[in-house]
Amino acid sequence: MLNTQRLVDGFHAHFNGNPAIVVRAPGRVNLIGEHTDYNDGFVLPMAIDRAAWIALRPRTDGRVRIRSLDLGEESAFELGRLEKGTGWVEYIKGVANELQLAGNTLTGWEGVLSGDVPIGSGLSSSAAVELAAARAFAAVSGIEWQPAQMARLAQKAENEWVGVKCGIMDQMVSAAARQGHALFLDCRSLACEHVPIPDEAAVVVMDTATRRGLVDSAYNERRGQCEEAAHFFGVAALRDVSMSDFERRQSGLSDIVRRRARHIISENERVLEAAQALYANELARLGELFNASHESLRDDFEVSSAALDQIVEAAREQPACYGARMTGAGFGGCAVALIERDQAGAFVPAVLTAYRLRSGLEAEIFACKASAGATIESL
Ligand code: GLA
Repeated sequence: MLNTQRLVDGFHAHFNGNPAIVVRAPGRVNLIGEHTDYNDGFVLPMAIDRAAWIALRPRTDGRVRIRSLDLGEESAFELGRLEKGTGWVEYIKGVANELQLAGNTLTGWEGVLSGDVPIGSGLSSSAAVELAAARAFAAVSGIEWQPAQMARLAQKAENEWVGVKCGIMDQMVSAAARQGHALFLDCRSLACEHVPIPDEAAVVVMDTATRRGLVDSAYNERRGQCEEAAHFFGVAALRDVSMSDFERRQSGLSDIVRRRARHIISENERVLEAAQALYANELARLGELFNASHESLRDDFEVSSAALDQIVEAAREQPACYGARMTGAGFGGCAVALIERDQAGAFVPAVLTAYRLRSGLEAEIFACKASAGATIESL
């Protein structure tokens, strides 16, 4: 885990003197509720103990200067003249743009950025950077921190400035999560409940070491198919279709759209049940729901991959495992397993070996702690 000292030292080296504040916003792993967010449905993600951090000091000239400690690159822009460019700084610029469009007068700053959320693995490194930037701008500009509002702004930045049509889940959990808890979120109303993660369970992230470039186009295609299904049922979003409505009318849909809709409708039911199972500490039941979610994502929504299926199977073979599934958008990246906490030490090497035998690849596997949403850290 990163610590504030590394950020403070980095700030010293690049800007002389001390930062005024350090902000941090976490990445996430989704426990269950995949591709439901843009269908106005339910999700149950957890913020992880990996985050993006910015150490910064306000400026008086309306400029933002940022040094990425991890990439060794510096970037700068004028708040009064935002122009689209390329690279990591666009997440920060996009957030500045949305904050200004929402009527805020922003103060500039200079700072150093660093993070330990692996990039492109499906743990929402981009949402972490967006929310860290939002927290930074809010702090130096005297804007009250309202997590749901900031999450919406950051999502808009990603949709409109960066051009990725994501839902609200990643930004919302990075903004609003509570330490030790998963976030049960209604993606339509943004109403949320913080559900405690029982001490005897460990949430383990399993990175397949595979990435797929086509994820954006496949993601947008799935969104389109879900919209088509919602249109067929005459509702605003698939959230509004019950399983019995679906069963009654499904024969009017094409095979692909029918299966896409069945995933979303069944997944929403699973999330509701999973939140109850988590509250009730019914870990075996929660594990079964993880497994059913994976099967549905693999067969009906078709966003898994050979590597994801292999790592999920390798995890499920271990006696300590309650359940395992792919997590995030899919096509590569990470899976998540729910296991008995006191068995985590044996679980990790066993899955590494079993996955290597199946795939020939070296996974990265780590247990994570449920952490808090975006914070200002004490210096
Ligand atoms: C990505 C998106 C999220 C969500 C997931 C799939 O992480 O950013 O909004 O749609 O995929 O559940």
